[in-house]
Amino acid sequence: MKTKAQRPRPKRFHLPQSVVDGLQPVGIGCVGAGFVFDAYMQTHHLHPWLDLRAVFDRDTARARQVKDYFGTPMVDSLEAILGDPSISIVLNLTNPSEHFAVTKALLEAGKHVYSEKPLATTVGEARALAQLAEARGLQVGCAPSSLFGEAAQTLWRALRRGQIGQPRMVIANLDEGASHHQNLAETLINPSGAKWPAWDEYRVGCTAEHAGYVLTWMVAFFGSVRRVMNYSKVFFPDKGIPIPVGEMAPDYATAMLEFENGVVAQINSSVVTPPNHGLYVVGETGYLKVDHVWPFACPVTLVQHARPWLTETVAPVSEPVWDPKGLSKPWYYRHWRLRDYLLDPADRAFGVGDDKMRGVTEFMLAIASGQPYGLGGDFSAHITEVTYAIQDGTTHAGWQDMTTRAPAVQPPPWVGG
Ligand SMILES: NC(=O)c1ccc[n+]([C@@H]2O[C@H](COP(=O)([O-])OP(=O)(O)OC[C@H]3O[C@@H](n4cnc5c(N)ncnc54)[C@H](O)[C@@H]3O)[C@@H](O)[C@H]2O)c1
Repeated sequence: MKTKAQRPRPKRFHLPQSVVDGLQPVGIGCVGAGFVFDAYMQTHHLHPWLDLRAVFDRDTARARQVKDYFGTPMVDSLEAILGDPSISIVLNLTNPSEHFAVTKALLEAGKHVYSEKPLATTVGEARALAQLAEARGLQVGCAPSSLFGEAAQTLWRALRRGQIGQPRMVIANLDEGASHHQNLAETLINPSGAKWPAWDEYRVGCTAEHAGYVLTWMVAFFGSVRRVMNYSKVFFPDKGIPIPVGEMAPDYATAMLEFENGVVAQINSSVVTPPNHGLYVVGETGYLKVDHVWPFACPVTLVQHARPWLTETVAPVSEPVWDPKGLSKPWYYRHWRLRDYLLDPADRAFGVGDDKMRGVTEFMLAIASGQPYGLGGDFSAHITEVTYAIQDGTTHAGWQDMTTRAPAVQPPPWVGG
């Protein structure tokens, strides 16, 4: 059998071939290997320079499942990763309540950390991680990776090119449909056998889980959020699993966000209202539309206000990477019943394929070049603060001023002007 190092590198990739050819393998580790772990593994083969050396999950049954399915090198303690000098970057794929403690331990052991979102569950903890990383000369980065997807980069370049004039407003939707009627806790099972963690998802909240997907785009495009006004509520307390109402996060949140550059955004996030993952940026002369913010391959549409009947597909920044075997599409895309339950029409057209490992490669490139990772500690602390202001802010209290600011983010060099 060919080892990872011998396997041919992908023919198509978002990075130029000259950059890919120069990449040196880097040792990575991973803490937490539950439901989302499979999504990382689905596109790991597109990033052969990310040499996965050790994975730790404290649930031994789950660790065995992962080893049996993927042949992943499992270790039986966090210390085994902390003390392994061949590992320089560690992925933190634990549940959000564990993010702070695990990331802190990893940074204290001298590892760069790429965390699943949110970076932490309070802005104070997120800020503390950013400061700890800086003090240790390390980098901390946070998912999602979708800002590096072709859809986001195409949209961003169209904005920079002034294709709708000055942007004024955004409408962003992250609505999942009535998930509590779909028995997902029992039916949504990833290829290696982990069930969708409904218990945790409903406690953490759909907005804490998902808002980062559109906030990273908007903060990269427009800069920091100055203030937030929200409304959130648990509309359906009976989700088929006995979580006390007081411990359940809002299943619906809507908010207005005012950015420092004057752009105003409306964001809707739920696990109860009809599926909708569309994002619109409205400018002086027209608007840009992405029907689905998750699939990297989703086209970006340009509509001029003066001629709304003439829509135009914006030329993508690069050919979206699709795995020829369809591996970058999630497994449930091939299951028509789940697909029709879970996906809105835009999903069905493009799949919900994203490449979570792309964020790790971009993180690795930033570390190798000595440059701060764009979606690093301070950026992610800001996203954390805005996320929780949308989800848990004091509804009806009016505007909440944000205390954090995100450093400006540059588009990656592979995009071009
Ligand atoms: N579920 C999804 O579809 C999805 C999608 C994208 C991102 N995420 C994010 O990924 C992260 C993980 O979510 P998930 O759905 O995989 O959850 P999960 O509950 O399925 O998996 C988490 C795993 O981490 C392990 N774990 C928890 N604390 C640990 C610790 N201290 N040390 C070692 N192992 C530990 C658990 O045993 C479990 O196997 C979350 O931040 C979530 O927001 C989830």
